[in-house]
Amino acid sequence: LTCERYGLRRLPFSRLSRDDVAFFQGLLPGRACTDPEELQACNVDWLRSVRGCSELLLKPKTAAEVSQVLRYCHERNLAVSPQGGNTGLVGGSVPVFDEIILSTALMNQIVSFDPVSGKYHRHTVHRGGTFFWGISLQQDVCVPGILVCQAGCILEQLNEYLEERGFIMPLDLGAKGSCHIGGNVATNAGGLRLLRYGSLRGTVLGLEVVLADGTVLDCLASLRKDNTGYDLKQLFIGSEGTLGVITAISILCPQKPKAVNLAFLGCQDFSRVQEAFTTCRTMLGEILSAYEFMDEKCMELVEKHLGLSNPVRGTRADNSQSIHLIYSPSLSGSPFYVLIETSGSNSTHDEEKLNSFLEQAMTSGLVTDGTVAVDDKKIKARTRLIGIPLIFVPQTLWSLRERITEALTHDGCVYKYDVSLPVGKLYDLVTDMRARLGQSAKNVVGYGHLGDGNLHLNITAESYSHSLLDAIEPFVYEWTARYNGSISAEHGLGFKKKQFIQYSKPNEAVFLMQRFKAMLDPKGILNPYKTLPSSP
Ligand code: FAD
Ligand code: MLT
Ligand code: ZN
Repeated sequence: LTCERYGLRRLPFSRLSRDDVAFFQGLLPGRACTDPEELQACNVDWLRSVRGCSELLLKPKTAAEVSQVLRYCHERNLAVSPQGGNTGLVGGSVPVFDEIILSTALMNQIVSFDPVSGKYHRHTVHRGGTFFWGISLQQDVCVPGILVCQAGCILEQLNEYLEERGFIMPLDLGAKGSCHIGGNVATNAGGLRLLRYGSLRGTVLGLEVVLADGTVLDCLASLRKDNTGYDLKQLFIGSEGTLGVITAISILCPQKPKAVNLAFLGCQDFSRVQEAFTTCRTMLGEILSAYEFMDEKCMELVEKHLGLSNPVRGTRADNSQSIHLIYSPSLSGSPFYVLIETSGSNSTHDEEKLNSFLEQAMTSGLVTDGTVAVDDKKIKARTRLIGIPLIFVPQTLWSLRERITEALTHDGCVYKYDVSLPVGKLYDLVTDMRARLGQSAKNVVGYGHLGDGNLHLNITAESYSHSLLDAIEPFVYEWTARYNGSISAEHGLGFKKKQFIQYSKPNEAVFLMQRFKAMLDPKGILNPYKTLPSSP
């Protein structure tokens, strides 16, 4: 399918022979799979939009095994598609033709966790004899821990491991139950905590990578500062399996925040969504950990396909379910919703800050509906936050946002776009696309990480159609380029977006990327047909 749709030819790699299979079965006994049923799942991506026809799935357990696999593939000119949790959204994780699938599923060991000091360092900040932070005489300085683990560890499991020790992973995404940390690093995944903890480019301290010819590159240092030469690990972060196979990661893990609050709010238009963001960034400052948005179409889809309920659409009569605002509980819902998370170390302080923000946002009309969730069980006994009823399971609110991706797959064929734009222009793309496509699309929705200037524009249709795709692309990329945006904010280019790289990168940059690729993988065996545009 993919080949027909994209008019692509198989490159002249060797074909897998019986001898090759015998070699791998000897190297990885019981872990070199040729079973068509098991292979089927690994040949198809999460969205079920692209499919390869690999006949071999390899599951090494160590970097040494990955090295032996790649050395052999390099010598034999066999193409390889590295795969983590196979949750990627750009068709990068599955073979295009018959590439061998190299899975990290069994590379799931935690190597070490160093809590560093393990405790808060408390110190007082002075400046010129006066206290710098005004009324706050002491400032909690969180010391992150350092986790070293293999690439196939599942993100959620790493987070659970860390939470037991008072820490968390610096990233969180809807796919956390399946995605691997190696896949996260290979895609430089953004997700829901980027606003607070920054990109993996800052939190990853070191990597172990196996190069295409089998060389093991041990850059797994756990140093906070290391300016000895070029920072090679950055080349592999976000390289989507095209430059090397990431086998281990050393990563900074923040302390688990003591107090987490969530507010789910309704806004009447997108300009209010933006203004609420500016206001809350100013008023919540360092405790703001997420600012996500979704439009009413997204809400409709999670209600319709997943049976979730809109917590801020209520009726005054329904007091038993009274999770609507005292302000103006609407019967019809709001055109936009925002999810605001605070994470801090002092629940009273955080609550006060959130309260003042909510009060201001509601009195000024930025927000018209809302509900709040708190993690802290003790708060249950206390009064409602400025009269807004509380929900005690934050996940209830997070699900509305996190599960949009899943809801969309139930709506039909999904055309998925992930762009960075100036926040002021973010939603105009959705509006313009809706107007452009008219009845030819089933739904055109917008949601995303507004705090990071990242829009997820998704279009659904009953079935795949060439003409619909032609109406969307390259329009969506031209539109994004006009505002100097990025055509891939966080999902990568993979197979589906690689031909459009020039909308976000100058030719010189693409050429340099191609030279890096040729240097590190001269035979082009690692994830061919992905990330970089096909040569003419
Ligand atoms: P895979 O899908 O298996 O692979 C992704 C790419 O990385 C492929 O090109 C693959 O070849 C390469 N790769 C995988 N492992 C390695 C390795 N060890 N070494 C070298 N290359 C490797 N993404 C975001 O950025 N933010 C989000 O908020 C987000 N939310 C999501 C929510 C849902 C419900 C889903 C389904 C996906 C979401 N994604 C998101 C996309 C996806 O989950 C991420 O890109 C994730 O990081 C991929 O990890 P994975 O282990 O599944 O990798
Ligand atoms: C998200 O933010 O939900 C993810 O990036 C997945 C998606 O874009 O659908
Ligand atoms: Zn996202």
